[in-house]
Amino acid sequence: MTHNAPVTFTGVAIKYGATTVLSDFNLDIKAGEFVTLLGPSGSGKTTALNALAGFVDISAGDISIGNKSVSRLAPEERGIGMVFQSYSLFPHMNVFDNVAFPLKLRKYSRSEIRRRVEEALAKVRLADFALRMPKELSGGQRQRVAFARAVIFEPPVLLMDEPLSALDLKLREAMRLEIKRYHSESGCTIVFVTHDQSEALSLSDRIAVMGGGKILQIDTPKVIYDRPSSKFVADFIGQTNFLTSEFANCVSGPLKQDIDLGALRAGNLSIRPEHLRIGVPASDTDIVFDCEIDEVLFLGESTEFSLKSKTGQMLIAKYPAGTSDRVYRRGDKVHVSFRLNDAVSLSD
Ligand SMILES: Nc1ncnc2c1ncn2[C@@H]1O[C@H](COP(=O)(O)OP(=O)(O)OP(=O)(O)O)[C@@H](O)[C@H]1O
Ligand SMILES: [Mg+2]
Repeated sequence: MTHNAPVTFTGVAIKYGATTVLSDFNLDIKAGEFVTLLGPSGSGKTTALNALAGFVDISAGDISIGNKSVSRLAPEERGIGMVFQSYSLFPHMNVFDNVAFPLKLRKYSRSEIRRRVEEALAKVRLADFALRMPKELSGGQRQRVAFARAVIFEPPVLLMDEPLSALDLKLREAMRLEIKRYHSESGCTIVFVTHDQSEALSLSDRIAVMGGGKILQIDTPKVIYDRPSSKFVADFIGQTNFLTSEFANCVSGPLKQDIDLGALRAGNLSIRPEHLRIGVPASDTDIVFDCEIDEVLFLGESTEFSLKSKTGQMLIAKYPAGTSDRVYRRGDKVHVSFRLNDAVSLSD
């Protein structure tokens, strides 16, 4: 079943007193799309979400849901489901009544409410917790109640503001899968906010990377990761190495002349840790240079190497477990190589 709606921000500005937090903010989200706003603290993610939900007023532009302007509608008139970072359950209501609340508001019959709430609680594995009060639940359980309450009326648009950040790693990964599954099954439009890049990469159809109240790049996770448009984006999504200009002196491959020297001089040539190869015979399409192994970090599913080039630049290389037989130790002298195609020239 598809029950969803497109969302559009057109030239939206938001001010708190004299401070402008968002200006000329534009974002087009397709019906059924999962879009994540990703960015550092203070970049305006929550502000954008609150404007869509109707909790803050916009001072210019327009916001529409289902191609209808909602800028003048109260939050409850916008038909949006919401999950926030702090669980925001009603503390004086038990789990059943919390989840039932949106249905009571919409005047569903008692029997329909009972049926739907029981189904929703079973889905989030809290069927036996209907009569508990919020304070008698763990953080993960509360967040699952908040999720059930947000989706109980099958909203066409679901907003989530850092819904997983208060949970420990295992719960976070379990909830992440549940959110992905919910999106696949319900087909609803989801606007998700996080500053966790792995959540953004794993969940989204598209990621909007925000900085200083602006969208700096919006694209699929793969493009954002492989072809970031700026240093800011490359640095924010995953680890990366920015090659310094001295590095040009220690490159010995035949392709030295093909390196973007302009980008290199500006320190704007970036190569991801997983694209650096250690001790592998290089082909003539590779850039090769000498390094010393500075540290080896065993991470379980991968091993991370801290490398020091001849000119003293520190680089990070990463190998998934099982892809290299050779054991390296601190102090080993190694050839390091990468394919020119894997390096990305970036603007500031
Ligand atoms: N009610 C408010 N009054 C004044 N300034 C505010 C208010 N709410 C947010 N701001 C400011 O607006 C900017 C954007 O805040 P916002 O909460 O949208 O950031 P965020 O990207 O969600 O950050 P975080 O990751 O920390 O949640 C910040 O500089 C913040 O200080
Ligand atoms: Mg926020």
